[in-house]
Amino acid sequence: MTTAQRPSLDERRGAAAERLQAFGQQHLLRFWDRLTDAARSNLLDEIEGLPLELLQQACAERGPEAKPDLRDIEPVHPIVMDRVDAEHFEREGSAVIRGNRVAAFTVAGGQGTRLGCDAPKGTFPATPILRKSLFEVFAESIGAARARWSARIPWLIMTSPLNHAETGRFLAAHDWFGLGQQSVHLIVQGTLPSLDRAGRILLASEGSIALNPDGHGGALRALEQHGWLDRLASEGIDTLSYFQVDNPLCKPIDALFIGLHHAHPESSAEVSSKVVAKSSPAEKVGVFCQRGDSRFVMEYSNMPQAMTEARDGAGGLLHRAGSIAVHVFGVPFLQRLVHQGHGLPLHRAFKKVPCLDPDTGTPLVPTEPNAVKLESFIFDTVPAARRALVAETTRVEEFAPIKNAVGDDSPATSSALQSERAAQWLERCGVPIARDPSTGRCLAEIELSPRTALDAASLKGCANLPKRVGEGERITL
Ligand code: UTP
Repeated sequence: MTTAQRPSLDERRGAAAERLQAFGQQHLLRFWDRLTDAARSNLLDEIEGLPLELLQQACAERGPEAKPDLRDIEPVHPIVMDRVDAEHFEREGSAVIRGNRVAAFTVAGGQGTRLGCDAPKGTFPATPILRKSLFEVFAESIGAARARWSARIPWLIMTSPLNHAETGRFLAAHDWFGLGQQSVHLIVQGTLPSLDRAGRILLASEGSIALNPDGHGGALRALEQHGWLDRLASEGIDTLSYFQVDNPLCKPIDALFIGLHHAHPESSAEVSSKVVAKSSPAEKVGVFCQRGDSRFVMEYSNMPQAMTEARDGAGGLLHRAGSIAVHVFGVPFLQRLVHQGHGLPLHRAFKKVPCLDPDTGTPLVPTEPNAVKLESFIFDTVPAARRALVAETTRVEEFAPIKNAVGDDSPATSSALQSERAAQWLERCGVPIARDPSTGRCLAEIELSPRTALDAASLKGCANLPKRVGEGERITL
């Protein structure tokens, strides 16, 4: 029996050159003569993986954010989680969890450039006192959920080729935080090249393309390509609880939310999303909007000022349903999107990307944005749902993102919110907390592990709660 012969480097180069020429990207081979054979082979691997048709289309359309369609847009009126029959929906959600129908899914493939952290963001020390990593916080929460509902709850983590190995090493070094390696699955997402303003693909070095992870929307393709959608379905898992790696207050497994997703009349169990009321017009979160029956998220950068600032009759923000990037997806819904060949649109963002100058070939370390990064966003799946449930939660309960090194959404603001939530839970258990009389700010630092309590109600049953928490105290529970 003969096996097909792998094409030689020269043959591969010829085919690549022809294809690149057709798309005006032939400059990618300009340093060919200077490369070793190994470097040539790597470069050809990268070139052969480029979705050139898609890139050309993305450049021609200038991306969906270039011209948002503002016709007939209405605000979304979310289901307020505090006002539903919590007992009923929690019972529904608990049954789904207990039935081993739920997996947790963290997207952790981002580059964390705003935070300025070179390591994978999930390794970032995030808690107020013990400085536990984000991964540890989620692992504790998932472990506690497994115990509470006697359920398997596998944990899927999306990484990128840029941080996959380091993420794996970190989790292994911490013995998978006690969850068991066989129940934690790293799934690598794809990449897309950065472009200059003229649409030319940028080289990172003479033998490599400037590639970035393809956005959290890359989750859809990554789950499919690595066989996870079919695997989940075959294991009876129809519910994917999706959250970002940068929010230590999120609840990876929330019975009430899962119950709403499955049993609320406004849901089709395809996709459900959590929002909080925007704190101000300027807050940088995407906003859920509606056109006819179709719901979608509009990026903050695409929303015109008049719309951002519009008020309703009661004086509140009209478009205030701020996405916190927490969703529950029906696995059959994601399978349907994939089988229908549903490609998520590519969004463009101008960013600083170190590269070789496409004209001169000299290395560039930009101080200003010089390149277009292309990414797809997971919330672009929402309009494809038959019905999309939107549920409003309380900010302090679930949203303390770490995006920036300082200022808004930084480790400092996140720590303060984590302490504040713990303080509120303790107060609900009758524990007085020292607060600033004029601002109401909690004057202590409190770190509450998900192992101790997953919610205020379960904290009530805990032994050894403090009698009171005084000013300046640092308490771990
Ligand atoms: P962000 O939009 O905050 O991007 O990601 P980022 O890459 O983490 O940070 P910056 O913009 O470089 O500062 C939101 C979530 O989506 C994940 C991130 O890991 C984070 O959990 N994400 C983002 C991916 O998993 N893959 C991507 O390609 C992009």
